[in-house]
Amino acid sequence: MEINYQETSKDLLTRIDIHEKYGSANIDVWTNDLLKPQAGMKILDVGCGAGKLSFLFNEYTKGGAEIIGGDFSEELLDKARAKNRELGTKIDFQFLDFNKLFNFPDNTFDLVTSAFAIYYASDLKFTFGEAHRVLKPGGRLFVSGPLPENKQMFYDIIKEATNTTIPPMPGSSRFKGEIFNTIDGLFAKTELHKFENHLTFPSVEPFIEYVRASLSEDRKLWTSMFNGKDEYEALIGKIQAVAQKWFDRDGKLVMTKVVGGILATK
Ligand SMILES: C[S@@+](CC[C@H](N)C(=O)[O-])C[C@H]1O[C@@H](n2cnc3c(N)ncnc32)[C@H](O)[C@@H]1O
Repeated sequence: MEINYQETSKDLLTRIDIHEKYGSANIDVWTNDLLKPQAGMKILDVGCGAGKLSFLFNEYTKGGAEIIGGDFSEELLDKARAKNRELGTKIDFQFLDFNKLFNFPDNTFDLVTSAFAIYYASDLKFTFGEAHRVLKPGGRLFVSGPLPENKQMFYDIIKEATNTTIPPMPGSSRFKGEIFNTIDGLFAKTELHKFENHLTFPSVEPFIEYVRASLSEDRKLWTSMFNGKDEYEALIGKIQAVAQKWFDRDGKLVMTKVVGGILATK
């Protein structure tokens, strides 16, 4: 399956900020509790974006782990490198396309992670095969992504506003079945963990900000829903009207993020 997907750094950082501002639970705490990365480990973060997980592990291990963050977006890598300089941290951010061979020898890493990224791989068997190859025996792979019940309210509001079914996000539709099974087929042991975060929006505006950061014109997954700027704004207007109706009716807007974490051991 060929998936044409390019995240923009502004949209990604807006969504991360909104999760942290209005959420009831912290995904970083969940991730660290699950993985407990240790000083002395060699860690590869695939599809690292602006470096969220890499910086998290670096802080948790007090700079004692050797961390490499790889992504194919030079824009996001530059953001990560700028933060690296700013913090004086020593994370190695480098180009990595997860649809190509990973540029590392066999049995290199103790931990390979990928948050909300690797499920866009065109050939899952190939990409997870690469993750398996570069892990040491006994090393762990951690992959997080949305489960099908993720953001139900977001999809319900858009559905009511447009009378159309939302194009399925490849992440959530593939995560539990195809992705879990591919990893399970390659690794010695595979577990599925779950994280829930209730985002309570105090007004309609931050919800609309989230919608914009999810379906802006750059995100090719959504382009079947609008054509050009005018149609995009008209769509946002309709979504805003429905969100306001829900808010007036319920006195709040709550969107629940449901994230799966696949943890596998080589
Ligand atoms: C939703 S972002 C998640 C970023 C980061 N892991 C985080 O949690 O903030 C998805 C990331 O996957 C990256 N990506 C998509 N396709 C890729 C590919 N073929 N190779 C490497 N990275 C890719 C994007 O550039 C983007 O940084």
